[in-house]
Amino acid sequence: MSTILKLENICYGYIDGGFKREILKNLSYEFEEGTFYTILGPSGSGKTTLLSIMAGLDKQESGKVYFDGEDVDKIGLYKYRRNKVGVVFQSYNLINYLTGLENILLAMTETDNKLPGNKSELAYALLEMVGITKTKADRMINKLSGGEQQRVAIARAIASNVDLIFADEPTGNLDTETEKEIIKLFQMLAQQYGKTIIAVTHSNEVSNLSDHRVFLNQGKLTDL
Ligand SMILES: Nc1ncnc2c1ncn2[C@@H]1O[C@H](COP(=O)(O)OP(=O)(O)O)[C@@H](O)[C@H]1O
Ligand SMILES: [Mg+2]
Repeated sequence: MSTILKLENICYGYIDGGFKREILKNLSYEFEEGTFYTILGPSGSGKTTLLSIMAGLDKQESGKVYFDGEDVDKIGLYKYRRNKVGVVFQSYNLINYLTGLENILLAMTETDNKLPGNKSELAYALLEMVGITKTKADRMINKLSGGEQQRVAIARAIASNVDLIFADEPTGNLDTETEKEIIKLFQMLAQQYGKTIIAVTHSNEVSNLSDHRVFLNQGKLTDL
């Protein structure tokens, strides 16, 4: 298996009451392709900060992020976000006045990657893959349950044909049954489609179902 994402000596801090507080300290780690990772760690340890940096939503103060061996700074953060990664949020962040299908079609316009065939057909197929039927795909987002919305959000994350997906507490708003179904989706995406999923969670149940558990504490990542 090969490395899809490599972090090298990442440092990041926030100014807090005039003081600089270091959150990530010379953090290094390598993520392999086709694997479902979970990152655990105490509240405030920097999990969301780290995810933002890995997803190109924020920039580290020092250190390097390599995607498939290429420096993300060289790719450019804008292109990296458009063409290399997808993000899933705790609160889904879909566009409520559009249908599920329209949310996916919109995401497909926000990449330079080539998408095969008919876009609507592909969007329906992606939604079907995450368990959203055509009838539900044509419904406004606010007429879907939380679990269904998160399924649409996962389809959106992969709609631009990317192999790396980040998720920040993706099941934080869902009941335990629905949580399990979402986790099964991540397992399927890793096993059958070779995607790499890096999900932050505070749930041991979620973490126990991932392929690889990582712990963020005192600014560093360690394997569990
Ligand atoms: N924009 C910000 N400005 C100042 N401090 C921040 C900011 N964002 C996060 N922090 C602080 O950095 C620490 C790590 O935050 P975060 O990455 O959200 O942690 P986690 O997701 O693990 O709970 C926390 O102490 C938080 O208060
Ligand atoms: Mg967080």
